[in-house]
Formats: sequence, C-alpha cells, structure tokens
Amino acid sequence: MKNYIQAEEWNIIESGFDPHLNKISESIFSLGNGRMGQRANFEETYSGESLQGNYVAGVYYPDKTRVGWWKNGYPEYFAKVLNAADWMGLELKLDGELLDLSLCKVTAFQRVLHMKEGYLERTFTAELASGKQVQVKARRFFSIANDEIAALHYQLIPLNFSGKLDLTAFINGDVKNQDSNYEEKFWDEVSRTQDESGSYLTLRTKKTAFDVITGVKTVVLQNSKTVQLTLDKLPREKFLSESGSVELTRNEGIDIYKIATNLSSQNYATADLLAQAKKTVQAAMAKGFDELLKEQAAAWANKWQEGDIIIEGDVAAQQAIRFNIFQLNQTYTGKDARLNIGPKGFTGEKYGGSTYWDTEAYCIPFYLSTAPQEVSKNLLVYRYKHLGKAIENAEKLGFTKGAALYPMVTMNGEECHNEWEITFEEIHRNGAIAFAIFNYIRYTGDASYLKEYGLEVLIGIARFWKQRVNWSADKKQYVMLGVTGPNEYENNINNNWYTNTLAGWCLKYAMEAAEIVKEEDPEQYQQIVAKTSLAEEKEFADWKEISANIYLPYDEEQGVFLQQDGYLDKEQILVKDLPASERPLNQKWSWDRILRSCYIKQADVLQGMYFFEDDYDLESLRRNFDFYESRTVHESSLSPCVHSILAAKLNDGDRAYEFYLRTARLDLDDYNNDTEDGLHITSMAGTWMSIVEGFGGMRVKNDTLCFNPFLPEQWTSFAFTIGFRGNQFTIKVTKDEIMINTTTKELLHINIFNKLQPVQAGETVINYRGLLV
Ligand code: BGC
Repeated sequence: MKNYIQAEEWNIIESGFDPHLNKISESIFSLGNGRMGQRANFEETYSGESLQGNYVAGVYYPDKTRVGWWKNGYPEYFAKVLNAADWMGLELKLDGELLDLSLCKVTAFQRVLHMKEGYLERTFTAELASGKQVQVKARRFFSIANDEIAALHYQLIPLNFSGKLDLTAFINGDVKNQDSNYEEKFWDEVSRTQDESGSYLTLRTKKTAFDVITGVKTVVLQNSKTVQLTLDKLPREKFLSESGSVELTRNEGIDIYKIATNLSSQNYATADLLAQAKKTVQAAMAKGFDELLKEQAAAWANKWQEGDIIIEGDVAAQQAIRFNIFQLNQTYTGKDARLNIGPKGFTGEKYGGSTYWDTEAYCIPFYLSTAPQEVSKNLLVYRYKHLGKAIENAEKLGFTKGAALYPMVTMNGEECHNEWEITFEEIHRNGAIAFAIFNYIRYTGDASYLKEYGLEVLIGIARFWKQRVNWSADKKQYVMLGVTGPNEYENNINNNWYTNTLAGWCLKYAMEAAEIVKEEDPEQYQQIVAKTSLAEEKEFADWKEISANIYLPYDEEQGVFLQQDGYLDKEQILVKDLPASERPLNQKWSWDRILRSCYIKQADVLQGMYFFEDDYDLESLRRNFDFYESRTVHESSLSPCVHSILAAKLNDGDRAYEFYLRTARLDLDDYNNDTEDGLHITSMAGTWMSIVEGFGGMRVKNDTLCFNPFLPEQWTSFAFTIGFRGNQFTIKVTKDEIMINTTTKELLHINIFNKLQPVQAGETVINYRGLLV
C-alpha cells in the first residue's frame, strides 16, 4: 500500500518525483476517450523504469498461445490490445545535453489529473548535469468531444541560461508489447507521409491486418513566431520525426504543440485513412489547443452532470469515487458496439485489453444509470454479435444444436483464455451475460431488446446449460460436474451453487423471454424460432424439467448454501485466524495449498445472492454472509463491492463502509501492489455500485426506482445522480433527510424506505421515518 497521492476533491495530485513510483503513476494518470488512450508516460526522453503504453480500442493482435501442456479445445491465440505508436514523443537537447528526468535533479515535480476538465498536467524543474535548469509545464488530453483527437502543449523555459535547444518531435511506431509471448513486434510499416499539414505514419498489425494511421501536426512557437522544423534526413523504420534548433533566451519560454489523431481501418477504408487523418488534424489545428481544451471541459461537464457522486466530509473518499467515475468514462463511451471494457482499460497490457464477465456482472449497472441507454445496450449487442462464435466455441468443446458458450476472455468473440480450469470450466460467465439482458430490461423497460437481439442469445445459453448438466441417479436431480465458480481458488469442483443457480435461472428466463416475444410480436417470434431451429415443445419441456430439478447444495445444519459439494470437507479455519504474514495467499502459498483450502478469492455464493436477492429472506442472507465473509480473502478486486452492498442490505453500515474502503482507493493507494500493471477499471464500477446500491440502497423493482439509503458515519452527506427512463434524479443523503431532485415534468412515484412517494420536478425531502418533510 502506498500513500503518496494527495487528496483533493477534483484533482489527483502527485508532488515530487520518485522514480520508484513512476510506473504506478503512469497507470493512475492514464488518459483515454473510449476510442484510444495512453499511460502517463513522459513526452520527453526518459531512460528510467517505465511501461510505455498507447492503445487504440479494438485493434488487437492474435498472439500465438504459449502453454506448457496443450489441451484439446485450447484457443490457438490470445488476442491482445496493442501497444501502438507513441504520438507525443519529444527529444530535447540543451546545448547538446539530453533532457531526461532520470539523469537530472528534479524539483517542483507535480502531476495533476484534472478530472473536472479532463486533462493531465505535469510541471517540473530539472537541473541537468551541466547545471542548466529548465522549467517545464506539459498539458495533454484525449478529447471526448471528438474521440479521434489528442492534444499536447509542452512549454519549456530555460531558467538560468541562454543557449541552443535542438528539438526532435516524433511519432514512434517501433514499439512492442511487454506481454508478447514470443518477443515479437506486432506492427509493420505500411506508409509514411510528411507535408505542411503534418506527419502521418501508417502501421499494419501482423496477422489481423488492422491499419492504423497516426497523424501529428507539431507547431513550435517562440515569441509567438513559428519555428521552422525540417524533416529528418535519415529515415528510420516505423519512426517519423521533424527537427529544429532554437536559440533560447534565459527566462523566455518556448511552446511546443502537438495535435494528433489515430484512425483505424475499422472505421475508414484503408485507402481513405491518409486523407481522413489530414482532415481531422487540420480541423483540430484550426481550433487550436485552447479551444479544444474548452470543448473537452464542456464535454466533461456533461459527463459529470449525468453521473457525479458528491461526498461531503471526507475528501479522500470524494476524490476516490470521482477517480473511479472518471476512469470508467475514459474507458468506454458506448459509441461502438464492437468495443468493450478491458479489466485494465487503456492503462496497461494485463488481461490483454479483452472482455471478461466483468462487463456484464459489474460494469453494466454503472453505464445503465449514468449514460444514455444506447451505451449499455451496445455492451449487450457486442455479445449478440458474438453469438455465432459462442456457438462455434461450444461446438469445439463437443456441444451441439446451437448451444452457445461465450468465451471467458475475448476480443472478437473467440476464446482467448488457455487454462483448462478456467477456459472450459468457469462457465458461469454465460449466466452473467443472460443476467445482463434481464438487468438491462429491468432498468430501462426496453423489452423490445428481446425480440431484436436478446432472445437468440438466451436460447443459445439455455441450450448450453441443458447439455452441460447431467441427471444424477444418486441425487435424483440434475448436477453440474467439473466447474470453476467465481472463486478461482477452487477448480474442477462439482455443483458450484452459484453456477447451478444461474443455470436454472437462465433456463427459466429464456422461456419467459420467449413468451414475451411470442405475445408482443408473433411474427418476429416465428422468425427467431426458424432461425434458431427451436423445437419449442421439446426444448421448453427439457428446460422446465431441469430448472425445476437442478441440484443446489445446502447445509441444513448451518443453514447455508454450499459453494460446492465438497466444501465442508475442507479444513475450516477462518480468515481472521490466518497469520497476516501469510497473506495475500496468492503470493505466499503454493497453488496446491490454496486449492485445498476453504479460502475464497471473491464473492461466489454471495454473488448469486446479490443477483437474485429477492429469492432469499434477510435471515438466510445473513447466515450466508457471515459464513462466507469469514472465509473470503478478497484477492480479486471484484470482491469487496458485492460484500459491501450485501452488508448494507443487512444494515451493517460499518462493514459496508469497511468493504467500500477496500475498493474505492484500490489504485490510488496501490493497495494490492499491482497498480503499476494498470488500473482495475472493472472493479471501479463495483465501487460505484457500493455507493449507489449499497449506501443508497438503489434497486429497480416493478418498473419503480427504490431507495433504502443510509449515511456512513464518516461522511456528512453524499449525493448521486442517475438517469432512469428519461428522467434524471439526484439523491442526496444527509444525517436527517433524503433529498430527491428530479427533472421529471409529470408526477412520478419512487419507493423510499419501502413506501411509495410522489416526486415531481424540483426537490422532495423525506426523513428517515419515510415521511415527507
Ligand atoms: C477474477 C475474475 C475476473 C478477472 C478479470 C480475476 O482475478 O477472478 O473474476 O474476471 O480477474 O478482472
């Protein structure tokens, strides 16, 4: 755990330069706009420890799988988001001496992520070995107003000398992925152009043949006059530069502007890329850095207006939740149904930038409440588009007749993961995808999604479960053998309660969905029946039979659901009795020891009770919560949020808050010592859920918004804004009252403390006894 980020409500601040923290800060100060993004690498040369990272959404390379022991059914490759060309590079030499912070004495260093306006600022004073001192201020951003643009303003002032500056501004496409399996580079150069309008480098990914053009216009100004740059004479592969020399006068600054674009052949015909890049750069150049930054601030103001959370009385908590919201909005904007949310977003290479069940289980609620409906719909459509591949994936494993198994990890619908106990066994992901459809319709009321897309997906998923279970003559119920639940600290277990529960639910929900479509649009229904060759009578009878008779392990004595058949055979020593020196288990214990232990990585039974909370009474929830919480080590960042929400539901405010703290500043304080690999983007959505669903107690039941809020003792108040079916609501929770502000014109009813309350435009105030004030 680190504690070097200064707390401020709207800004993330690092003061002082510690090279040991650089990779962590590169993650924390990452920028993105849904279309592209970047770690907070320095613009100028840096020879110290750094993980270079520039990413273009949806552009990937299929890196040939590397495993020790090949298993039939493994994917051939792992699709990886690529480290792409670095557009912002600058080489700065002062009287021949290179500016490189790892070789300088650095003072007054500060990095500030301005979350309100959406830009990164870095200032420092550096003393070079010669004693020359320069002061630098660099600001940059990825525009969310025009997601094809990024911009940089780099200002350098010589503090104690006059002398010559040789500067080279470059685009460097000669980059590699740190996680490359075979030390390969993934890009080939296709073409290069340099003219008045800028420098343009087009690279093509090996195998997948995505073309990405990086176009940059560099402008250098001295005393408001343009400094002429010349094209480099010695061409270097995948590297384009322009250089110039300037006589600097002590205390007089020089301004370097770079306006950049990254366009890919996903969105433009290859032949049009250059013309399009020129147009984009020129249009942005005409506006200029300051105007673009104004547009950026306005676009961010909109985002904050749609989904800010305000916490009073705790600056660190306020900063943390804004950081989580900021990063989620930088990662996914929902404009393109081919894109999704990698667990690390644009902040690192880990998890390959691919899609996991995290999206459906954790991220959808955030986007449902804080973004237009199309945004979460696009996340669902993404899976619809992959249905064919999910069917192929299931066929590869021996399933038939349109059964669909969605991949554990994917970029384009094909499975990328290659550990048998996860690839073949962590099949609960299929359930999360079905649950997300249900969740989307519950929230938006948009049941037409079923006939458009959802039903086909649900049929494929139901068919998978039907074939994945088998009848146990011994138990006289359907069982599911050889699975891994969300708790990856047990593998190849039988009858994971969560997976069996989800499977049973999916079968029922698929039939319900079919019923809805049949009733609402019989013609469309018949088309889906024909398209999927649905043998209604027989298949529904099977689904009904299985869902009614699926085995759900339960321990009568303790009154808890059993995570799996053999769970109680394990030695039951609670987490509180584990020596601190042995944790985290995944770093201190052998894998074998972990697998045989009773310790739980992340919510598993509790994940199911969270999804289907209305099926369980509070007492049952309490028993299961106490049982499993005391055995959970939370070694996945996705874990504490679910525990926080359930603790809140159980009126255990202290524990709800304790779990919340574990997720909220996970990256800012580098809790797990892994922030340098990138941020935990998907768990950030869990943090948001802990506040809105946990402390705010928000649910949607029978088309009605419900709240059951409480105020953590440590805060003076908190308020969150959500959109629901065309109206915006801000719920403010104080010690004495709940204030609801809404934009609705008509009279609406929302449920507060289990009582329907009328609300209309303006403010409604309710006290904790549920009475209007
Ligand atoms: C978790 C998975 C998750 C993955 C990516 C793993 O550590 O156990 O549930 O999907 O990380 O976030």
